[in-house]
Amino acid sequence: MGNTGDNCMVLEGFRSVFSKPVDAHHHSIASDYEKPDCSPNTARSDQRGSMQRRFHSGRDFRRAITIEELRAMARRRLPAFVREYLEGGAEDEVTLRRNRNAFERVAFISKTLTDVSRRDLSVEVFGGKLPLPLAIAPTGSSGLFAHRGDLALARAAAAFGIPFIQSTVSTLRLETVAEGAGGRHWMQLYMLKDRAVTKAIVARAAGAGCEALVLTTDTVVFGNREWDRRHYIRPGKLQLSSKLDVLAHPRWMWDVLVPNGVPLFENILEFLPGRNANPVRTRAFLVQQMDPSITFKDIAWLKSIWPRKLVVKGVLDVDDARRLADAGVDGIVVSNHGARQLDGSVSPIEVLPAIAQAVGARLCVMVDGGFRRGTDVVKAVGLGAHLVLLGRATLYGLAAGGEEGAKHALSILREEIDRTLGLLGVTSLSECAARLRQTSS
Ligand code: FNR
Repeated sequence: MGNTGDNCMVLEGFRSVFSKPVDAHHHSIASDYEKPDCSPNTARSDQRGSMQRRFHSGRDFRRAITIEELRAMARRRLPAFVREYLEGGAEDEVTLRRNRNAFERVAFISKTLTDVSRRDLSVEVFGGKLPLPLAIAPTGSSGLFAHRGDLALARAAAAFGIPFIQSTVSTLRLETVAEGAGGRHWMQLYMLKDRAVTKAIVARAAGAGCEALVLTTDTVVFGNREWDRRHYIRPGKLQLSSKLDVLAHPRWMWDVLVPNGVPLFENILEFLPGRNANPVRTRAFLVQQMDPSITFKDIAWLKSIWPRKLVVKGVLDVDDARRLADAGVDGIVVSNHGARQLDGSVSPIEVLPAIAQAVGARLCVMVDGGFRRGTDVVKAVGLGAHLVLLGRATLYGLAAGGEEGAKHALSILREEIDRTLGLLGVTSLSECAARLRQTSS
């Protein structure tokens, strides 16, 4: 759930397509069809001189060569309002673009005549080895992208031996994912005002064997995703064109809707008043429950009730990172929430070097935001990250091809990271720091 409110609106909008008559008095609001970066047929063309290039956006996700190509497939398969929920950033999306552009200001200087016939992509995280410097970031409502989306993502992560971080507002119970995936399972937490509920979620995560708890701190005030809102005439009520657009996506309806109906926030169902999981009511509950008064003192409380690794997600300031290290957290995620919260925010990759230098020896520094290429991952590790979290990259795979599509996204990235090391003239990720230069453009 990038934005709790939007999350609920998405689910309720989905429900309204099938439970209500089409609204004849819809407001005509610009949809994402009018966004310059969001053409309806998704396959982006790229003109260089007379050469026209197009991504393949057909149905067979195995034909995708890059994450960007999986994105084209996902965008074709999803109805517009779900696509917007997946893709959108806050307000003018300045930060959304910045998250991608920031990578271009980091350049490689490769070594030559080094033996790169054996390359090691593994990293050390929390005293253990991971085969890749990757984890899957928490994303709410993943059931909207594919049937039982969280389980599909968790199984994909397990197949690659990397952690899957489940969102508090996921559409499957954390116990279901723990039993069904069997991999490295971490749990993301929103601090709710009702600390008894917060405590109960933490206890369930501990009982289910989650290895780490990831407290998200950058959503205590909800971000403003205007393009998302434009699909609705009021919270939970889709505008007519968005409803009709759903009907134009039968493959998605068949996969997501037909098996179990509207995906609900099953993970927190037991805490909702009257156990009523109606998304509009869930939204009201979460808006009322999200605690904007949390401070560093709440970290001490969490540490007292959580027995394993504690990670704080949503850090961009070096002093905050130092204070979190002083508070004894085990890890931080340098993140601007995939540009879905504060527009105009710096990109995580821009502040990563200073943060890694300040606290990298004391805790695990993770980073996310805009990672779409193996080269992006290698740059982040070179700039001091121990682990990179993938948000949209694996969601594109999920939306394009379910569990196998998410695995395909991971295999694309694994291959790209491996190739990047070889081209860079190094055999391990620990050698990458020396091979980077920050440039002005
Ligand atoms: C998110 N994100 C997110 N974060 C979180 O802590 N809890 C959540 O429930 C969600 N939900 C969510 C939904 C969707 C659709 C997206 C795209 C993102 C943020 C996520 O964990 C991560 O920080 C960003 O996605 C990273 O940026 P990229 O990789 O998507 O560019």
